[in-house]
Amino acid sequence: MKKNILKNLIINIFKKHGLIKKHAIICADAIINAELVGAKSHGVARLASYCKRINKKVINPKPKIRIKKTSSSITNIDADNAVGFIGADLGINYAIQNAKKTGLGLVAVKNSGHYGLSGYYAERAAKNGLIAFCFTNAPPAVAPYGSKKTLFGTNPICFAAPTHTKIPFVLDASISMINRGKIRVAEKLKKKIPLGVALDKNGKPTTDPIKALKGLQLPIAGFKGSGLAWMIDILSGVITGGNHGGKVKDPFDDFTGPQNIGHLFFTFKSNLFIKNYVERIKENIKNVKKLPKLKGIKNIYYPGEKKVMRFKYNSKKEINIPTKILDEIYLLDKS
Ligand SMILES: NC(=O)c1ccc[n+]([C@@H]2O[C@H](COP(=O)([O-])OP(=O)(O)OC[C@H]3O[C@@H](n4cnc5c(N)ncnc54)[C@H](O)[C@@H]3O)[C@@H](O)[C@H]2O)c1
Repeated sequence: MKKNILKNLIINIFKKHGLIKKHAIICADAIINAELVGAKSHGVARLASYCKRINKKVINPKPKIRIKKTSSSITNIDADNAVGFIGADLGINYAIQNAKKTGLGLVAVKNSGHYGLSGYYAERAAKNGLIAFCFTNAPPAVAPYGSKKTLFGTNPICFAAPTHTKIPFVLDASISMINRGKIRVAEKLKKKIPLGVALDKNGKPTTDPIKALKGLQLPIAGFKGSGLAWMIDILSGVITGGNHGGKVKDPFDDFTGPQNIGHLFFTFKSNLFIKNYVERIKENIKNVKKLPKLKGIKNIYYPGEKKVMRFKYNSKKEINIPTKILDEIYLLDKS
């Protein structure tokens, strides 16, 4: 489907579900971006779940967002259970504005929802010449190291920095072996998941997405990944006023209340301590890229580089949507 047609369809669906046009556009842009960077699990495949949560009154389509500036660098946002993209969009905008004015921007968002890809927000800050950290927590999917019960989300860790090129460095990785959205998509499309990314409820390795969703996802690097997930839960949940410690509700299965997800955006100018940032980052990247390569490897890429290549390539083509998801979208548009 052509990008613009899909975008208008998504805007229309969100408006039919009660969102004002400005908010519907913010949501549509984030979803289309996920499709274009190849993160299908965060694209239109999730549209039905946002709409279902609005219908079940656990996402507020007309939020009264409260924004409190506690200093020229710090902003505190209560997103009033809006669709996650909306609180996150405001959050990163304030983090950019604050850092441009004072050198540092710190923004907490609470009462929010699933905001999609962390890198989408971090990249915006880096394109404004800023270093950025973006954090969000997510519903239980990963068992803390030593436990057989899930509690941490797949909580992505995200860092961005401007480079000497137009493509920022954006490291954006969930702390689980694969992100949960990929398992949801595999479930929807009746496909298998790779071995070694999840266990069933009895602790046995599985390639069945249904068993994996009922069991647990494995963290990256054992206790180190578990520790990172915990750190992100503290940054996104404990200190923002959002849910934490396993209390974020599953967006697909739990309609007993809003998710109250928290996000934290921390940005600062790249030249706070040195005058020649661009020269230094250029040298840094050059030193990595010129290393001798392993057999079969032509280029060493920095995080975010390939994503921009995918975005450019996909932007020239129509967006490919599986029939099952397309049927779901048309149904939402008629509702
Ligand atoms: N909102 C949420 O609750 C939530 C939860 C989990 C994940 N997510 C999002 O899902 C997305 C996907 O996460 P993921 O863990 O599947 O990411 P991934 O495994 O696709 O990529 C992880 C990181 O590795 C980098 N990378 C990949 N291939 C590379 C290569 N060949 N050379 C150098 N770097 C390379 C990427 O640029 C990226 O920064 C992220 O954007 C994340 O924010 C969101």
